[in-house]
Amino acid sequence: MMHHADGEVLGEFLVSARSLAEYRAMFHLSDDDLAGRRVLDCPGGAASFAAEASALGAEVTAIDPIYATPPTELAARATPETERAVAWAHSHADRYRWDWYGSTAEHAAIRRGAAARFADDVRAAPHRYLAGSLPSLPCPDDAFDLALSSHLLFSYADRLDADFHLAALLELARVATVETRVYPLLDYTGAPLDDLIDHLRTELHDKGIATSLQKTGYEFHHGADTMLTLRSAA
Ligand SMILES: C[S@@+](CC[C@H](N)C(=O)[O-])C[C@H]1O[C@@H](n2cnc3c(N)ncnc32)[C@H](O)[C@@H]1O
Repeated sequence: MMHHADGEVLGEFLVSARSLAEYRAMFHLSDDDLAGRRVLDCPGGAASFAAEASALGAEVTAIDPIYATPPTELAARATPETERAVAWAHSHADRYRWDWYGSTAEHAAIRRGAAARFADDVRAAPHRYLAGSLPSLPCPDDAFDLALSSHLLFSYADRLDADFHLAALLELARVATVETRVYPLLDYTGAPLDDLIDHLRTELHDKGIATSLQKTGYEFHHGADTMLTLRSAA
């Protein structure tokens, strides 16, 4: 296993632990987007979104290949993975804006809190966490109202190519009736991916899926203030 968290290349996919507050900000989520809605979080990672949004009345399914691991092992892995993610962000602090969090310490506290909430929920409500991988999800068409995808697409464009991105976006649109929201649109080094995004939007348009770029209320990587929204043309 590669662990390069202190260097310039991030090794294997981080299993990060964002909170509902971060999801709300990244994806412009309102209570109406959540209550009573069927929501997919893919990749779910060690985020506490599924736990917290379920408590607000959303019907959340999180999908991630790591959920093939038994819940007790997942729960045990959440804390060291969160420390790896926090260490990565703090050792590249100049790449990020810290104002949304207030400080690096507050960022670490939010991520540790989310990991702990995930660790409790994955043991208490394992039915919410489904093993699966983009671009082929184990779900029927229109299984969800809203699909959210944070920090896999675009983030890892160094190892996931344009064909993967297109297939993954089509798959999210297949399972989400109303809308798919994706954030961020930069890679994990903060590099913009305008050519990739233009290419994907053209391909999606040709397949009957309308896309738009919307400003978010959140910017962690400098310049990562935009989400991509997909809607199937009615
Ligand atoms: C950086 S985490 C993001 C987790 C969460 N969305 C968040 O923002 O905190 C990236 C996740 O992508 C998952 N992943 C890797 N390949 C995947 C694939 N093909 N399909 C779905 N998830 C994948 C990894 O297991 C990891 O948990």
